[in-house]
Amino acid sequence: MENLAYDPDLESAASTQDVAAMSALRPVPRISIQAFCETESVAGPIERAGEDRRMAKAHLKVHMGGVPTAIEFYHSAPTPNLVILESRSEPKALLASLRELSEVCDPSTKVVIIGHYNDVGLYRELIRSGISEYVVAPISMVDVVSVITSIFVDPDAEPIGRSIAFIGAKGGVGSSTIAHNVAWSMSTLFSSEVMVADLDLAFGTANINFDQDPAQGIAEAVFSPERIDEVYLDRLLAQCAERLSLLAAPSTLDRVYDFDSEAFSQLIDTAQRSAPLLVLDVPHIWSGWSKNTLMKADEIVITATPELANLRNTKNLIDMLAKLRPNDAAPKLILNQVGVPKRPEISAADFAEPLGVTPMAVIPFEPQLFGNAANNGRMLGEMDAKNPIVQTISEISHVLTGRSELKSKKKAGFGSLLDRLKLKK
Ligand SMILES: Nc1ncnc2c1ncn2[C@@H]1O[C@H](COP(=O)(O)OP(=O)(O)O)[C@@H](O)[C@H]1O
Ligand SMILES: [Mg+2]
Repeated sequence: MENLAYDPDLESAASTQDVAAMSALRPVPRISIQAFCETESVAGPIERAGEDRRMAKAHLKVHMGGVPTAIEFYHSAPTPNLVILESRSEPKALLASLRELSEVCDPSTKVVIIGHYNDVGLYRELIRSGISEYVVAPISMVDVVSVITSIFVDPDAEPIGRSIAFIGAKGGVGSSTIAHNVAWSMSTLFSSEVMVADLDLAFGTANINFDQDPAQGIAEAVFSPERIDEVYLDRLLAQCAERLSLLAAPSTLDRVYDFDSEAFSQLIDTAQRSAPLLVLDVPHIWSGWSKNTLMKADEIVITATPELANLRNTKNLIDMLAKLRPNDAAPKLILNQVGVPKRPEISAADFAEPLGVTPMAVIPFEPQLFGNAANNGRMLGEMDAKNPIVQTISEISHVLTGRSELKSKKKAGFGSLLDRLKLKK
């Protein structure tokens, strides 16, 4: 019989109570989390939480140095989906340092504070300012996973994913190419998980552009909507880059693709619960489901080339979408393939005038760059990182994730924290 004497390895095993508490928790989606701790007793449980299977899809990094290090860090780095900050400061000093942090924090980033003061007034003040949770140390691994779950997984938690639908004003204007490149750029620039769904089942090109040939993809999901949940969806994804996954179209004609108008709803909902950014590559058609998909998207990007049919179609799309989405901002417009030699073109200003929408970007016709990228299954940024078009794609990514109105200036973050704290100065 084995020796049942003391085994130091078992010391770190979870207690029965912990196991019970953890078993009720659902897996955490593909979010990025960074923690800035001051003590090992807080860093330890966070590290251990990161090793739990429920956190397998999340990217977690634990740093030491608390709020001051976080502030310095985010002066030059994008903020993740969640920042966990340990602070031993007393309430007033803590609020002051958070005020400084909010100036470098993106608006969509959630913040959890682990403090050492059990102070109800402070708790209320923080929650009112947009902090997601204030937890008093000491904390356990279970506390860490529970708090993350309560923000990102609970049924009444908002879906974490922001969906961005790309559609062309005509076929062949570059809508898909731009969608794929923006997705790639968002995943690399912001270290954020991005999922691309190619909704052009018959002719989709995401598989070619990302050099992927998965056995399964989006067709499995739309043809068996009753099976879709996060686990099923995971199996259909092809990994294109470290933080970029693709629901590829079959791009075959063995069957026809006549969908009812709700065909993609379940899939899109599930995808939005599983990744913070969802890029929908919508084909240039007007059907019940394509209209529905655009209607529900958080953001719409119309790509057009500078000629008359594109202008007419863009105008119709913008007018119709304004009717369907009266409480949303107008779609964003990208003018693409501008400057084709010898082609008469409508200038950007003349194109914008009847639409009442200024293009967020004007991308020149650059057949060599686009052709090489397409033929090699590479993104533009991988082919020629210094090309001005790559810079434009990066600017588009900033705007679409709310990181800047125009160029890359950061907006103050976590809800109304800055405004509220400013009033109290
Ligand atoms: N700015 C550009 N300059 C040159 N070629 C481009 C440009 N944008 C896109 N293309 C090319 O145009 C073709 C059609 O692009 P695609 O993204 O499939 O269009 P859509 O999705 O609108 O039908 C592709 O071969 C692509 O590489
Ligand atoms: Mg396309």
